[in-house]
Amino acid sequence: MYFLLASFAILVILYAIERIGLRVRFGLFALLFWLFLFQFAMILAVDTLLQNLSAYLPVWLDSIMTTLGGFLLVTLGITPLITVVLAAAYLLFALWQWFFDRDAEVRATPPQLVIAIDGPAASGKGTLARRIAAAYGYHHLDTGLTYRAVAKCLLDQGAPLDDEFLAEKAARSLDLSKLDRSVLSAHDVGEAASKIAVMPAVRRALVAAQQGFAATPPGAVLDGRDIGTVVCPDAQVKLYITASAEARAQRRFDEVRSAGGSADFDEMLADLKRRDDRDMNRTDSPLKPAADAHLIDTTEMDIETAFLNAKSLIDQALARRTN
Ligand code: C5P
Repeated sequence: MYFLLASFAILVILYAIERIGLRVRFGLFALLFWLFLFQFAMILAVDTLLQNLSAYLPVWLDSIMTTLGGFLLVTLGITPLITVVLAAAYLLFALWQWFFDRDAEVRATPPQLVIAIDGPAASGKGTLARRIAAAYGYHHLDTGLTYRAVAKCLLDQGAPLDDEFLAEKAARSLDLSKLDRSVLSAHDVGEAASKIAVMPAVRRALVAAQQGFAATPPGAVLDGRDIGTVVCPDAQVKLYITASAEARAQRRFDEVRSAGGSADFDEMLADLKRRDDRDMNRTDSPLKPAADAHLIDTTEMDIETAFLNAKSLIDQALARRTN
């Protein structure tokens, strides 16, 4: 019984190490778990069989069976001990690998350059990100579109925007290659996106997809709100693009007017400030510059000057990698 309890306790510890330390969902843990269940079932079955049989057997046969059964039980009883030993060995191996890998992670140079660009709405970060990606031949992901796509999915279903279950499901099944800017750029989708963006489960799913994208060689440019702080904290270049709320609202206003639409400047400014407030003050991954981000204020700066600033930082990072 003690062996069984000890095996079980070790399996629980193993599971925790695999999930938290090694980020493996079911590794050797699963194997040992089934071995443990098998041992448990076998011991119960043999014990029950022996007890039931003894009532029907002649005394001489019963004593032989009891002796044989005793041997069998002892042998089976040893298998939990084997599990414990195996598990302990695995535990040591897992811990060793964990420390070794963490060390290797720190030393290894990522194979591709990652450029993280954060900033509030209409700061110019999207235009800058596209410009950089085109100049360097890197992949570009506007992570705002991923939040917009999840919000659009909920809007299309007529589901409430606080339905965390549906939002997480949509986030998990999101296909990054099917983000359609022309559909997702609608104003109401942006508003809805900033509401679903406060849900930790949605963020977790989208961040995982964005991290996968960031690993695409030869390099990736990601823009959003939490790229330098959460999605790619190891990015070699981090930019935080900002501009006054009035300048940003004016850009949006001009965009809408030049596309032939009608807009109210004060309403746009209020909307923008409300969105900033939601993005900067949420508990999970609020919008803020990473400690090592370079700030670029575009209030009085055109996109070309912002690009030249960014280019000089990127070229320095590339030169550091080749030295
Ligand atoms: O940048 P865009 O306006 O398309 O983003 C829509 C919303 O998605 C933002 O207001 C923000 O709430 C959310 N978002 C986020 N994290 C990102 C990108 C966008 O929370 N990395």
